[in-house]
Amino acid sequence: MGAVSIPSPLQELREARHLRRIPDPCAVVIFGATGDLTHRKLMPALYTLSRLGMLPEECAVVGFARRPMTDEQFRVEVAQAVRGATSGAVDAAAWDGFARRLHYVQADFRDPAGYDHLRQTLERLDRECGTTGNRLYYLATAPELYGEIVQRLGQHGLTVRPAPGSDGGHPWTRVIVEKPIGRDLASAQDLNRALLSVFRESQIFRIDHYLGKETVQNILVFRFANGIFEPIWNQHYVDHVQITVAETVGVENRAGYYETAGVVRDLVQSHMMQLLTLMAMESPVAIEPESVRSEKVKVLRAARRIPLDDVPRNVVLSQYGPGTVEGQAVSGYREEPRVAPTSRTPTFVAMRLYIDNWRWAGVPFYLRSGKRLPKRVTEVAVQFKRAPLPLFGDTGADEPNLLVLNIQPDEVISLQFVAKVPGLAMTLRPVTMGFRYGTAFGVEEMSAYERLLLDALLGDSTLFTRRDEVEEAWDLVEPLLNWWERSDPPEPVPMYAAGTWGPDAARALIARRGRRWRTL
Ligand code: BG6
Repeated sequence: MGAVSIPSPLQELREARHLRRIPDPCAVVIFGATGDLTHRKLMPALYTLSRLGMLPEECAVVGFARRPMTDEQFRVEVAQAVRGATSGAVDAAAWDGFARRLHYVQADFRDPAGYDHLRQTLERLDRECGTTGNRLYYLATAPELYGEIVQRLGQHGLTVRPAPGSDGGHPWTRVIVEKPIGRDLASAQDLNRALLSVFRESQIFRIDHYLGKETVQNILVFRFANGIFEPIWNQHYVDHVQITVAETVGVENRAGYYETAGVVRDLVQSHMMQLLTLMAMESPVAIEPESVRSEKVKVLRAARRIPLDDVPRNVVLSQYGPGTVEGQAVSGYREEPRVAPTSRTPTFVAMRLYIDNWRWAGVPFYLRSGKRLPKRVTEVAVQFKRAPLPLFGDTGADEPNLLVLNIQPDEVISLQFVAKVPGLAMTLRPVTMGFRYGTAFGVEEMSAYERLLLDALLGDSTLFTRRDEVEEAWDLVEPLLNWWERSDPPEPVPMYAAGTWGPDAARALIARRGRRWRTL
């Protein structure tokens, strides 16, 4: 008989914290602490977690960046950022509590002395604040620096690598990696190798903020906590699926990054693949990291690779020209600050994908995303096959059933079906039955970054992407990139006017099978 293991008081304390979803004591170190992401998302999220009592007392936040600054100056800068992100609604007592947690280490990311300084700071915080050696590193710098930072963390004794198969034990080290994870398959593999030379996969949290959105998680709940949808969620009943991520914003002040990314790297490889996999995956054995992520990977592996020659038949890439969005005249992409006047960077994509497995054989998935479109909306729409007999003839009954999971800005699930218009005539019309998230629950939602930071602090990687998932997604989109970037002579850049739903070619892509994009 095996020995009965009696939990140590420390283990018991950790388990009790987990039940209440309060993380262990720890230091959160943000690399790139003066950058845009830190200001707009990370600090406001950490402040909110602190305000809501979701961070332990013994949690310190250390900013690491190049700019010289004292702890006090860093606190002032973070205060401004948090005020900006919360429209000034900062609670004074909550702020004081959060400000006390903030510390700053100034160093070049490539300078070994900076990492020694970081280690000394963290050891001091272990003593003074009780952070007990647990570390969460957040890589929020330019992606070219990720590999280097991780190597240096390893070399300077700033990481603990758990035994294979263990849950991380104590003290633990984890790393959150912001997208983009590479810029193609080879560079993603390189980065993953660099990460895995220092950390185990269980310590790596690759973030895709779409997975932190309530309504994205609700796709799983909708499908697998209800019995009535799964039987019809397949090629027998579904005609096609449309996934739309439409934005009204242009490139904003991010041209430096966007010029090297474009819509395929920025949105398709990451957020759209997440929506696709959650929508199409099989039921996981359990809602736990490995089961959920393994099912998502299977979808990506089953997605048909588009041969280079076939890309033009299946994909439309385009760039916005000048136009009018929400009543405002806006400039074209090439006139945006820091964009090359001859830039070929695509800001719009429409594409058709097939998933070659038993569930989805023959069902087209149409994906579209763009900047400077007429409306901000993210949704997954499942269009069902029509009724087998046109019993009601030409009475308006030809609209198919449609199930729409609207992710943002309105968080709604709706089902369209045909009903009889009251009166003597047999006139039919499509009507909609809807569930509205906000009014149904009336509770304040956590933002995506709050949710994901908390999960990483708790060590739950269900909503983070695994190595194979990221690499499969790159493998899938790579033909698009190769077709666009390596074609000789270069593909001409089709333009669409800002404020329209993309070029005519996008409409033609879906119309070839008699279908059309949803009017949003
Ligand atoms: C980011 C992209 O990951 O997601 C941006 O880099 C995009 O280009 C943004 O605008 C969209 O996120 P959300 O949460 O506003 O839909």
